[in-house]
Amino acid sequence: MTAPIPVVVAGALGRMGAEVIRAVTGAADCTLVGAIDNTPGKEGVDVGLELGLEELTVAVTADFEGCLCAVSQSVRDAGKAAVLVDFTHPSVVYEHTRAAIAYGVHPVIGTTGLTPQQLQDLSVFSAKASIGGAVIPNFSVGMVLLQQAAAAAARFYDHAELTELHHNRKADAPSGTCIKTAELMEELGKSFNQAEVDEHESLEGSRGGRRDSGLRLHSLRLPGLVAHQEVMFGAPGETYTLRHDTIDRAAYMPGVLLTIRKVHSLEGLVYGLERLI
Ligand SMILES: NC(=O)c1ccc[n+]([C@@H]2O[C@H](COP(=O)([O-])OP(=O)(O)OC[C@H]3O[C@@H](n4cnc5c(N)ncnc54)[C@H](O)[C@@H]3O)[C@@H](O)[C@H]2O)c1
Repeated sequence: MTAPIPVVVAGALGRMGAEVIRAVTGAADCTLVGAIDNTPGKEGVDVGLELGLEELTVAVTADFEGCLCAVSQSVRDAGKAAVLVDFTHPSVVYEHTRAAIAYGVHPVIGTTGLTPQQLQDLSVFSAKASIGGAVIPNFSVGMVLLQQAAAAAARFYDHAELTELHHNRKADAPSGTCIKTAELMEELGKSFNQAEVDEHESLEGSRGGRRDSGLRLHSLRLPGLVAHQEVMFGAPGETYTLRHDTIDRAAYMPGVLLTIRKVHSLEGLVYGLERLI
């Protein structure tokens, strides 16, 4: 029997991180070896007990680098590289990913907000260090299917607008997933939404954010929402709407586990779940 994959979860006490801890501890081929979170007052508590699970004998720590250093040392001795699953905050995700690569830990990044330049830099670091990693703006298989359908429909429609809807504690806008959908729709290099009138906004932002391609992105934030995306195409006499709704964070876990299982064999940094399924 092969040894289980050692997994460190950063953002362990957050909404996504907690779900990952449940998924990892429930997977026979994974073992939780680190739980990082900077929630005040939680340093040293057992992450399992804190999340209402059984005792996992993994203490929560806010010391990101210290944890990676200790884990990389212990698993190196055991001959297996660890995986970092990061669901923290856009403000720290770049440094976290860089540090993981530096410590020889494979990054599986769910935190959104990395800029194209940061992604490029991280790609170079991971290739130089020969550490496979994955940046996955959305771990939902259904969302990948929506994105593929949107990219196919973009060949036939010249007018399209994207709306992403999330809970009101999400820090970045538009969502990384929505940007990714737009990028896939733009791969043919065409322009969208040629204006038929001279538009003006009496309330700034009413028409959403406009990308160079002409695609417009709109972000809604409300309590009660989880993560939803709609792509609406228009043409004379018709509209065509694609919509995906995530109603529970459990929907992301098959994609997270699949990425944990594949990341050791990746070359460089892979962006997007569609490259893995
Ligand atoms: N890729 C996907 O499929 C997907 C799905 C949902 C959310 N997300 C993204 O994941 C991220 C987290 O989302 P969430 O809803 O779980 O947020 P959350 O606020 O519930 O959890 C984040 C956790 O990270 C911890 N944290 C923040 N900064 C930290 C730091 N510097 N060091 C250690 N811990 C730190 C916080 O204390 C918190 O417990 C966001 O960027 C969100 O957009 C991605």
